[in-house]
Amino acid sequence: MSNTSHEVASGPYHSGGAAPSALSAHSVSKRFPGVLANDSVDFDIQPGEVHTLLGENGAGKSTLAAMLCGLYQPDSGYIARNGQRVVLSSPRAGLQHGIAMVHQHFRLVDRFTVAENVILGSRNLSFVLDRRSINERVSEVAESYGLPIDPTATVGDLSVGQRQRVEIVKALYQGAEILLLDEPTAVLVPAEVEKLFENVHAMTQAGKSIVFISHKLGEVVEISDRVTVLRGGKVTGHVSGRGATDTKDLARLMVGRDINLGTQRASHPTGHEVLQIRDVSLNVNGVNVLSNISFNVHEGEMVGIAGVAGNGQKELADTIAGLLSPTSGSISIGGATATDRGPIHARELGLAYVPEDRLGMGLVPSMSILDNLLLTRDRHIVVDRASVRPEATRLIEQFEIKANGPDHLARKLSGGNAQKVLLARELSGGRTATKLLVVCSPTRGLDVGAIETVRRLLDDARSAGQAILLISEDLDEIMSLADRILVLYRGSIAHETPGETAQIATVGAAMAGLTTGVNG
Ligand SMILES: Nc1ncnc2c1ncn2[C@@H]1O[C@H](COP(=O)(O)OP(=O)(O)OP(=O)(O)O)[C@@H](O)[C@H]1O
Ligand SMILES: [Mg+2]
Repeated sequence: MSNTSHEVASGPYHSGGAAPSALSAHSVSKRFPGVLANDSVDFDIQPGEVHTLLGENGAGKSTLAAMLCGLYQPDSGYIARNGQRVVLSSPRAGLQHGIAMVHQHFRLVDRFTVAENVILGSRNLSFVLDRRSINERVSEVAESYGLPIDPTATVGDLSVGQRQRVEIVKALYQGAEILLLDEPTAVLVPAEVEKLFENVHAMTQAGKSIVFISHKLGEVVEISDRVTVLRGGKVTGHVSGRGATDTKDLARLMVGRDINLGTQRASHPTGHEVLQIRDVSLNVNGVNVLSNISFNVHEGEMVGIAGVAGNGQKELADTIAGLLSPTSGSISIGGATATDRGPIHARELGLAYVPEDRLGMGLVPSMSILDNLLLTRDRHIVVDRASVRPEATRLIEQFEIKANGPDHLARKLSGGNAQKVLLARELSGGRTATKLLVVCSPTRGLDVGAIETVRRLLDDARSAGQAILLISEDLDEIMSLADRILVLYRGSIAHETPGETAQIATVGAAMAGLTTGVNG
């Protein structure tokens, strides 16, 4: 590839005398071992526009975004900025052209303040400024886009939504004109999403361009001026957004068939109590993270735990899984005590667990899919790897995991496909028969086709008599799947209702701490 950096780009989007695109990709291709992640992709974005990249897990969205910001270089094809061909050899080079990517996994330094994080890596000799003027400048940039942040706050103390705001302010402070947001809403609660969308409007009003990636089709319809659909690394469609299309159309374009995400509830009467939680409290460093939690989950029943992140969900799940010991109270699985017995014991009692923190606890990035699938199998049995291969291959097929076979390393999977491996392992129950399934946000980051599959598998597990505890911030998901809904607020159960008759307004109010008491 030539290194000339100021050839005039020609491409499908600006023939004639039209203004050049702010940023464009021209027939870019990118190959990873065994996969053509981008195959002659054309893409462009105009000033003041929100252009969404949509596609199934592994379709090539993050790869394209990475080439647009200088993180990866195309194998062939090229990138142009304002119609001029550019070579973006690194993210820093991208930034020099006013392009910044906000990654889903934030790259902030926890113990630094907001302002320190924002100026970190800036080249304009910020260190000669005193702390006060730095704080002022950071606030100024933030407020001009309606992104209020406290420059003196320590990043480690911030919520996920606030951290994301810091990342965006950092990009703007560094002079970004084009922001690439890779699944920014996957980690946000509904109120934070609304706020982010207001910020996006403020930025596009000011002439900035936004490349947006999301699997949430409702959001895509709401925020996008244009949508480009990728499938298997190729562009397969263009749609205009903002009400000109609906979520059903987008789903069909993405996966090539209709998707049904309707209501599914227990079709059989429920059986014995599988999980019993009695008066469980958990105190961490003097803070009551869980207070007197009591509930049961029966055979063939799915109980949903709704709540805004950080209200004790993660600790509740880890306590049930034996990773945390409750300060008081008891837990039993299948009639046997699980309190203080540790995670291996919990598994032996028939627990399968899909934790919140996938890569930290669920998957080992440096291991293959096959070895990750074997990870939680019964330790007393010497596993014959060869005999498990066909099963691994079958799971890869069943879960539509985009990989070149069982030996594919976990860290080389796209975000959604890594998640599918974890779900495949826990839902396939290859070891001790699963009695209790505890799943945290099982469909976060998955494309609509995969969401449909996972929901069906959860429903099948329920029909087969497993007890399921579904912990999710996705209220729609809980409302459409759970037989019973409990709302966790500040470590206590603030509301309980049957799924069938649950009112979204009432559940939402309880999540916000606006009601107390248990009824229904
Ligand atoms: N660093 C890498 N090494 C090897 N293969 C990779 C690498 N990054 C991505 N791939 C592969 O390239 C393809 C496209 O991945 P990409 O991450 O762009 O998908 P995506 O559309 O962002 O998916 P998701 O919605 O799951 O995040 C996938 O098959 C993935 O396994
Ligand atoms: Mg991705």
